[in-house]
Amino acid sequence: EKAGFDWFMRKEIFEQPKAVADTLLGRFNSKGELVLDEMRGISPEDLRRINKIVIVACGTAYYAGMVAKYAIEHWTRVPCEVEVASEFRYRDPIIDPQTLCVTISQSGETADTLMAIRHARIQGAKIIAICNTNGATIPRESDAVIYTHAGPEIGVASTKGFLTQLAACYLLGLYLAQVRGMKYADEIRVITDELAHTPQMIQQMLDGADEIYQLAHDLASAEDFIFLGRHVGYPVALEGALKLKEIAYQHAEGFAAGELKHGPIAIIEPGMPVFVVVPPAGRDQLRDKVLSNIKEVKARGAHTIVLAENGDDGIEADADLIIRLPHTSTLLQPLVATVPLQLLACELATELGHDVDQPRNLAKSVTVE
Ligand code: F6R
Repeated sequence: EKAGFDWFMRKEIFEQPKAVADTLLGRFNSKGELVLDEMRGISPEDLRRINKIVIVACGTAYYAGMVAKYAIEHWTRVPCEVEVASEFRYRDPIIDPQTLCVTISQSGETADTLMAIRHARIQGAKIIAICNTNGATIPRESDAVIYTHAGPEIGVASTKGFLTQLAACYLLGLYLAQVRGMKYADEIRVITDELAHTPQMIQQMLDGADEIYQLAHDLASAEDFIFLGRHVGYPVALEGALKLKEIAYQHAEGFAAGELKHGPIAIIEPGMPVFVVVPPAGRDQLRDKVLSNIKEVKARGAHTIVLAENGDDGIEADADLIIRLPHTSTLLQPLVATVPLQLLACELATELGHDVDQPRNLAKSVTVE
């Protein structure tokens, strides 16, 4: 069943090129336009009428939602909020029939998320679900569903669930841009082309697994881990930290790199592993800011592990280790940058002797609020 892998989680990490390819499959016509048949329950007129998008999800799916917000707001200029479902539901959020509610759930059964969409529906919002489980409660209670085609995810820690959620979020963002009129038609064409190549890029990251396993070995006695990123690198940092907590039971925190000097930098100690996601070249302002954040932690003795794209030089001086990423557009970088962090958590948990597929205290689908 595990196809020669020791854990379902590791198998699922390695299935990601196919899972993402399957999620993208058949979604574009020969002219490169998106055809989302599943959107039938929400007409293009409905989508043109909306003036606000709220994304609700939990855990890893929430981090996919954070990435979606950056992409959707940039491509469509529709204000988009993202919130953990358990907070959204109980704060009297402002929703009306011109609100589009997007929900993301691998299982489709997460109680907090379900309660959030029921609440949004009562206020008149249309609901689009991004879900991996056919016929689950959340898609049944939504107006339209974009299914991720990851196949069953058995490992409790979500991996291919997350990457396919990202792919589906990009599809939704591109679709909204297409329906509502594209502000950045050229960029969107580039992204659409690039999306088709992401399965190979994810494969390249998997081909480098041994380097990450060696890193896990080297970090086996570390007790605190910090992950930093800006823009879409920020949710990647949060996801990297969550994976380590969930299965390796290590104290790990993700921060927006710009927040560092507003507090978290105080906890940096000599030797502490700090992972930093560097945005691709082309976003130079953003990249420069991240480079100065690397310098700041390095100056305090951190062990810096820098995720940066191939050809990005100028980081060597402050990086103790560089994990190379294929070149992507900034918005698509999470599809590649997340992979080494998943591999790291899986390997570290294995090394520490934990049950990777059934971590303590966690259930695959959280059906209580
Ligand atoms: C993380 C993880 C959880 C889930 C969260 C939402 O690895 O598995 O954080 O992402 O419980 O689950 P779904 O997507 O099923 O709603």
